[in-house]
Amino acid sequence: MSANNKGFTHEKVETNNFLLIVLTLLVVASTTEAVQGVEPYEPLRLMGRDVYIREGCYNCHSQMIRPFRAETMRYGHYSVAGEFVYDHPFQWGSKRTGPDLQRVGGKYSDEWHRVHLMNPRDVVPESNMPEYPWLAENMVDHTVVAQRMSALRKVGVPYTDEQIAGAAEQVKGKTEMEALIAYLQGLGTAIK
Ligand code: HEC
Repeated sequence: MSANNKGFTHEKVETNNFLLIVLTLLVVASTTEAVQGVEPYEPLRLMGRDVYIREGCYNCHSQMIRPFRAETMRYGHYSVAGEFVYDHPFQWGSKRTGPDLQRVGGKYSDEWHRVHLMNPRDVVPESNMPEYPWLAENMVDHTVVAQRMSALRKVGVPYTDEQIAGAAEQVKGKTEMEALIAYLQGLGTAIK
């Protein structure tokens, strides 16, 4: 667009505070619609996500595939904003000591993940990922899941009363290992 264009130019937007704010809000609002197929985390996956955060997995793994060929060939479709609408907080990460995990869901079997989390070197001999054997013994705390879901509902995650009421029953008796694997297996599966 030429500089002397009298129409709706970038210069006009960027030098007019009101326009800039209104258009920025429009862009933000329109990119945070959920992608079709992206659902609020079901209770077991939600508890697995808490384990992921507590154990600091994000220190070595990103969940953010950038729109470059080298990334999409290795990891799959690049990440889009609408995939993260129910993530509070986001797990985008900033460092990749290990691979990106945005689309790891379905890549391996549950059993592969279990062996890998018990001791990564059993499946990837050169791995320097830590082991997490306690996850197989720790039980998910089923008494907190309903509160977690209610809190998320306050920030916009559309859990129903029925889902919240039935949550404790669904995670009761599950290990943190099972919860974390359920979380991993759902990652990025809405877009393939
Ligand atoms: C100190 C860094 C580090 C931490 C912390 C870490 N990882 Fe890893 N992770 C790696 C490395 C390096 C690899 C690649 C080698 C391998 O597969 O073990 C990896 C691989 C993986 C893979 C396989 C990915 C693929 O596409 O092949 C998964 C799944 C995974 N990690 C999950 C986790 C989870 C869940 C946690 C937290 C409980 C975690 N990691 C913590 C470094 C780390």
